[in-house]
Amino acid sequence: MPKVTVNGKQVEVAAGTRVITAAQSAGVEIPHFCYHPALTTPANCRMCLVQQKGQRRLVPACSTVVTDGMEIDSEAEEARVNRKGVMEFLLINHPLDCPTCDEAGECRLQDYTGAYRMNDSRYAERKVTKTITNLSENVQFWGNRCIVCTRCVRFCQEVTGTSELGVFQRGDHNEIGVFPGPGKALDNPLSMNVVDICPVGALLARDYLHKTRFWFLKTTDSTCATCAKGCSIHVDAYRGEIMRLRPRENPQVNGFWMCDTGRLNYPYTHRKDRLKKPLVRKNGALVETSWEEAIDAVYQGLEAVRARHGPQAIAGWSSAWATSEEALLLKIFVEGLGGAVAGFSALPDKKEIILPKFTIPADRNPNRRGIQAHIGSRKTTTKPKGVHVLGGIPDYTLTPQEKELFSSLEFLSVQEIFLSELAQKAHVVLPGATPFEKSGTYVNAQEIAQELKAAIQPPGDAREDRRILEELVRTFAPQAAATAP
Ligand code: SF4
Ligand code: SF4
Ligand code: FES
Repeated sequence: MPKVTVNGKQVEVAAGTRVITAAQSAGVEIPHFCYHPALTTPANCRMCLVQQKGQRRLVPACSTVVTDGMEIDSEAEEARVNRKGVMEFLLINHPLDCPTCDEAGECRLQDYTGAYRMNDSRYAERKVTKTITNLSENVQFWGNRCIVCTRCVRFCQEVTGTSELGVFQRGDHNEIGVFPGPGKALDNPLSMNVVDICPVGALLARDYLHKTRFWFLKTTDSTCATCAKGCSIHVDAYRGEIMRLRPRENPQVNGFWMCDTGRLNYPYTHRKDRLKKPLVRKNGALVETSWEEAIDAVYQGLEAVRARHGPQAIAGWSSAWATSEEALLLKIFVEGLGGAVAGFSALPDKKEIILPKFTIPADRNPNRRGIQAHIGSRKTTTKPKGVHVLGGIPDYTLTPQEKELFSSLEFLSVQEIFLSELAQKAHVVLPGATPFEKSGTYVNAQEIAQELKAAIQPPGDAREDRRILEELVRTFAPQAAATAP
C-alpha cells in the first residue's frame, strides 16, 4: 500500500491508484475535465496538472499512478498558473452563456471560471462559432460550449460499444459529431448518459431542455422502477413535478449509468387521467366518494362475499411493481380475512440487452423478487369470488389467465393509478401512488434490497398504497395491525 502526501496530508492508498483519486482520499479535489473514473484516461484537457516533488515538469493527476513516498502539491504556484492558462485557452471560443445554459449551477467550466477569476479575456479576435444540432431524439449538441474533452466519444466506444460519436475537423474548428456523418444518430440504449458526463453544457437532454434552473430542483435519491436491474437514481423535482431522472453511482448495480428507457419513464406520473379520488360503483357507474366511504365499501363487499361463500372465496392479487412492504401488508390483510394472496401481475419479459459495460435485464418488473419472497410465485387456478387487487403498473394489459380468474367475481376492489382495464370493472377503486410518490423496498434481479423514496406527493386525494393497506388492515383485522411492518 503506497503512502502518498497530497498538499501536506499523507494517505495510504491501494497500489495502482491514480494521483487524482489519492487526492480525493486526502480531501483534495483536483480540477479536471476529461478524466472520468469509469472511462479510459486520455489526459487531453491538461487541467489536472500538479506538481510532483522531484519532477521538473507538472504531471497529469488523472493518469499518473502513485508510488510510495510520492509528494504532490496541487496548489503550487506553477500548477495554479497552468490551470489559469488552460482556462484562458478554453474560454477563447466559449460563449460563457451561463444565464441561458441548462448546465449552469452544475458546470465545471463555470465553477473554474469563477474560481480562477477569468473575468477578462485578452482575445480580441472573432470567436469561432459552431452550430446547435440534435444528435438524436433525446440529446442536443451545443457546439460553442464543447471543450472537446472526448468523454462522450469514449463513453460510446467503451461503455456501449456503439461508437457513434467522433471528433471532426482540426484545431479550433474541431467538433463532436455523429460518425460517419449526417443522417445517423446517437442511437444506443444508454445514449443520454453522455449528457451527465459532459462537464459543460454542450450535451443537453431534450426532455429537460430549458425546463427549470438546477438550483430550484429538489433531489431525492431513489431506485429506478422500470426493470429488475434497479438502478440507483436521483429524482429531480420542481414544485411537485418531476423534471428529470439521473443515474446515481452504485458500483454493485449500475456503476455510473442508467438506460434511456428508465430515464424517460416518468411523464406518466403527471398524466391528466391519474386517479385522484376514491371511486365506488353506484347504480352501475363508478362515482367519486370519500376515503371513509370507499374503505367502508371494501369492508362491506368483502364481508358479504365471506358470509356467502366462506373465507376461501377471498383473495388478494399483487403486482410486481408493488413494494415488498405493500405485498406483506396485502398478505396480512387477506389472510386476516381467512383468504390468501393468489398471485401477482407482471409485465412480460423483453429481450435482454448486453453492452460491453452494462446489461439491461429481460425482466421489466422492479420487484418480482420481493413479491415472490412474500407471496410466492404460484398463480392459483381456483376462482375466488371477492378480490382485492394491488395494481400500479402503468398501461397494464391483463393476461388471458387473469381475465379468466377475474371473470366471475361478486366483488372487486383495486388500488390503481389509472382507470385500468381491471379498475373499470371494480366495485371500489382506491387511488394509489407511482414509484416516485411512495417509499418502500424493491429487491432487484441480483437479490439486492434497495430503497424507494417518495420524491413527490401523489395527486389529489391519492395515497401511498402502503397507507391504504394499513387502513384496510386496521378496518378489517385490528389484531393483525399489530404485526404490520
Ligand atoms: S460534448 Fe461535452 S463530453 Fe463531449 S467532448 Fe464536448 S465537452 Fe466533452
Ligand atoms: S436498466 Fe432498468 S433499472 Fe436501470 S435505468 Fe434502465 S430501466 Fe431503470
Ligand atoms: S483531467 Fe487530467 S488531463 Fe484532463
